[in-house]
Amino acid sequence: MIGQKHKKRIFSGVQPTGNIHLGNYLGAVKNFVKLQSGGNEALFCIVDLHAITVWQDPKVLRSSIRELAATFVACGLDSNKSILFSQSQVSGHAELAWIFNCIARMGWLNRMTQFKDKAGKNKENASVGLFAYPALMAADILAYHATHVPVGEDQKQHLELTRDIAMKFNNDFQVLNFFPIPEPIIEETAPRIMNLRDGSKKMSKSDSSDMSRINVQDDNDLIALKIRKARTDQEPIPEEVSFLEKRPEAYNLVNIYASLVNCSPEDVLRDFSGKPFSYFKPRLVELLVSELEPISKKIKELLEQPEEIDKILNDGATSARKISDPIIRSTYEILGLTKNLE
Ligand code: AMP
Ligand code: TRP
Repeated sequence: MIGQKHKKRIFSGVQPTGNIHLGNYLGAVKNFVKLQSGGNEALFCIVDLHAITVWQDPKVLRSSIRELAATFVACGLDSNKSILFSQSQVSGHAELAWIFNCIARMGWLNRMTQFKDKAGKNKENASVGLFAYPALMAADILAYHATHVPVGEDQKQHLELTRDIAMKFNNDFQVLNFFPIPEPIIEETAPRIMNLRDGSKKMSKSDSSDMSRINVQDDNDLIALKIRKARTDQEPIPEEVSFLEKRPEAYNLVNIYASLVNCSPEDVLRDFSGKPFSYFKPRLVELLVSELEPISKKIKELLEQPEEIDKILNDGATSARKISDPIIRSTYEILGLTKNLE
């Protein structure tokens, strides 16, 4: 395994906390679906061990894991084309995370902006896990020798840290190329979907107002209501994208439309310039409903058959272990430890 070349392998993870919203769908999951079809080997992981870095109600966590698995499948992730599984089912993640805790430096983790944001003013009371979170993320990726990681902008810093950990490990133990140095896949065309009530914030699971986001499981009436109430301004739709730059809420709705029909914001303006938002919004609702209605129907169907979901996750975990077990075993050996998997 030393000095080896790494074949292209994609890994990404999503936390099973709260509803999957339009931002997750257009910004992440839709891209996963595209990536699994390119003949790539891909793993998509429900990162439940990351979720418990803040307190989770065990009953809610259990159902959120199934719900995210159902959402993945309903959005088009196919367990015949990629590996879908939950992190806690594959013990290698936690084992490698510990090793990486011993590789990463305090100074590196101290610079992570997500920890600062999440811990807020009460840093002393944050869990050690929340601080070490990026080392677990590095373990997720490197346990599979993954080479490409589709992530949002906000995760770029964690991926940089993953690269630093891989390089330091390879260097400290003189195992050239043992861990690949993974690359981010930042989908240029995937827009940042903004909060429907405040275009300066991104759409997020954690906003206290449900009216600020469209969840993939919202029913048609709720989608219509949320778009009707979405903040805009009095101006009609302009001719050029540059005129939208100071109108974040208007820009956001145009972006959502463009992303749903796979065109550019310019194309949307070509069709709608001069029209008021009262004309545009019902068209956007139609699009959203036609995209999301089949997905939420499928999620509901799957949730009625939890044993189906569990089977997908169990099979996924078995396939994942086949890849990561030998890598973890080699990692132990490199460190002078013995791992007797047989
Ligand atoms: P999170 O909800 O923060 O767990 O997000 C999971 C992934 O969804 C992120 O890594 C991003 O790729 C994507 N994502 C989350 N929120 C948005 C958003 N508002 N716009 C676009 N992509 C998003
Ligand atoms: N930290 C990521 C997020 O909050 C989720 C994640 C965990 C992840 N492990 C990963 C993403 C590995 C990509 C690769 O969105």
